[in-house]
Amino acid sequence: MRIKEQKYILPDGREITIKSAGPEDALKVKLHREATAAETHFMAREPEDGELNPGKIAEGLISVAESERDFMVSAYIGDELIGDLGVTLVRPHIKYLHRAYLGMSIRQSYTGMGLGSFMMKLALDQAKANGFEQVELGVYSDNDRARHMYKKMGFKEYGMNPRAFKLKDGTYRDEIIMANIFE
Ligand SMILES: CC(C)(COP(=O)(O)OP(=O)(O)OC[C@H]1O[C@@H](n2cnc3c(N)ncnc32)[C@H](O)[C@@H]1OP(=O)(O)O)[C@@H](O)C(=O)NCCC(=O)NCCS
Repeated sequence: MRIKEQKYILPDGREITIKSAGPEDALKVKLHREATAAETHFMAREPEDGELNPGKIAEGLISVAESERDFMVSAYIGDELIGDLGVTLVRPHIKYLHRAYLGMSIRQSYTGMGLGSFMMKLALDQAKANGFEQVELGVYSDNDRARHMYKKMGFKEYGMNPRAFKLKDGTYRDEIIMANIFE
């Protein structure tokens, strides 16, 4: 499904368009994901993992757009995609139908201006409307900003995957498992 288009105004007055990226945006999504992977170590990929395949991204975006419950919350300034959030069913089996997984990233120069909180609120409201009972995510233990924002938006920390990530400098980071259980 695709969400209804809306606007978010940054503190400096610039206007952000929030809508769902579709297959037509595959190249923009690729550029965004490659850029955010290079900006911090908080994303799953490193640039050295190689370029993303726009065809595969387009397939994923088609599948999300055609799904009744999965959706994207994408942020654009002008024509450039600067925020990427996806909510997807954990697994299409009866015992998992109440659970959604969420991943998100915003370009560094647009962080810390309330956009992430806005996108998250929208995603949680839509997830509820789509029949999910909880939204789950994993976050790097040293990602203080993300952990703060997720807690502010109702997520709780339920567990930890020790040494889930080994960085290029040889140090490890735990993955913190969080969920927002709708009650
Ligand atoms: C994590 C992310 C999605 C948050 O979005 P955002 O637009 O920056 O978040 P917001 O501006 O809405 O909110 C950030 C909050 O963190 C707080 N914050 C900022 N830096 C912080 C820090 N170092 N420690 C704790 N809190 C911090 C801000 O004060 C704000 O809280 P408040 O609303 O209570 O004042 C975004 O920063 C991002 O994409 N970062 C890079 C990639 C990433 O980390 N993705 C998440 C992977 S799980």
